[in-house]
Amino acid sequence: MGARELMWSRRDLAKAGLLAVGSAVLPEWLWGSQEAGNATDVTGVNSLRAHADARGLLFGAAVVPQLLDVDGLAAGTTTDGYTLLVKNQANILVAENSMKWGALRPSPGVFDFTQADKLMRFASLAGQKVRGHNLCWHEGNPGWLKPTANRDNARALLTEHILTVAGHFRGRLHSWDVVNEAIEPKDGQADGLRKSMWYDLIGPEYLDLAYRTAAIADPDAKLTYNDYGIELDTPDQAKKRELVLALIKRFKERGVPLHAVGVQSHLSADGPQPGAGLVQFVREVGRMGLEVYVTELDVNTRNIKGGNGEQDAAVARVYKDYPALLLEEPNVKALLTWGITDAHTWLNQMKQPWAVRPDGSRQRPLPFDDALQPTPAFFALRGAIEGAKKHD
Ligand code: G3I
Repeated sequence: MGARELMWSRRDLAKAGLLAVGSAVLPEWLWGSQEAGNATDVTGVNSLRAHADARGLLFGAAVVPQLLDVDGLAAGTTTDGYTLLVKNQANILVAENSMKWGALRPSPGVFDFTQADKLMRFASLAGQKVRGHNLCWHEGNPGWLKPTANRDNARALLTEHILTVAGHFRGRLHSWDVVNEAIEPKDGQADGLRKSMWYDLIGPEYLDLAYRTAAIADPDAKLTYNDYGIELDTPDQAKKRELVLALIKRFKERGVPLHAVGVQSHLSADGPQPGAGLVQFVREVGRMGLEVYVTELDVNTRNIKGGNGEQDAAVARVYKDYPALLLEEPNVKALLTWGITDAHTWLNQMKQPWAVRPDGSRQRPLPFDDALQPTPAFFALRGAIEGAKKHD
């Protein structure tokens, strides 16, 4: 009698609603989806990439080029787990840090594209698109920038950076996060604009300058405005959504080139979840002729009590519900997670109280765990993509 006959099949356990992982009982809908494919084989037709391709969607993740075995991929010999995971699961990539000012600009007169070019080579070999992130932000900047920039040179600094960097990748990127996180209601400005260095030195027109310059440097890239804290039906996030919509409307009125909005989607496994307010926002953005990308999805498990099983069950619910909510919208064209494996998530690098779990255990925010194994979130996400309407 084979081992299988001796065990209740997953299907039997699922029917009894009694599948347990660790000390948590996972819901039937989750394991049912695993029965659809071989739970251990998540490549080829069982991959997130294949399911996204089949629905006409872009799915991918933020990656760290330093960890990619590009030569091994080129030679067809790589056995590196992270490399194979990124290649097999994504049809679009974004550099987590390698295309930011801080990575590209070691000193005022130097542009270092080494890691960014490595990512581009990897994506080319793997037949993947690439998002650029980002050309203008209040973080991720090199130490020399703030002491160097002033009212007299800030326009030139920003223009030179964008022309050089967007020019370097001209015609090869799907989209650019041109300006990142420009709205901060807490800064008390009438238009909700963040009082960043660029705002202080150039004024609100730094946004127009950035997008118009990016359009000159790379007419093919879809120019995107990317922000966070616009997902939930809370008063603060509803206000921020209004301010982002007002920003976009002002762009349209002034003919500022913009093609898409990035909804970062750094969500929490506990607490309120995205709903009608975000759907309304996505539809309003669509009415302005713009696409929407989920650009940085991950699920913070800081507040989830218990072990891996409890974290995984809570995270999987978000990876089931959130993509299902948004992928119904025809202008939602891409969904990227912020990292593909818990092994490299920023959430396990942060020391702030909102990221560090009280018991000191690691967060589990992504579709693959520390050992590069698929988590319940993987199967939930795959099921949500599989159930999405086909996008043209
Ligand atoms: O590469 C240097 C290394 O040489 C140095 O020894 C080390 C010392 O701390 O720093 C390393 O750079 C770090 C970089 O990540 C690469 O690991 C920076 O300090 C660190 O600040 C940087 O954090 C990144 C952060 O953006 C700021 O750029 C996170 O990894 C990245 O996940 C995070 O991503 C942002 C998005 O770009 C925008 N949306 C929010 C999201 C999360 O904050």
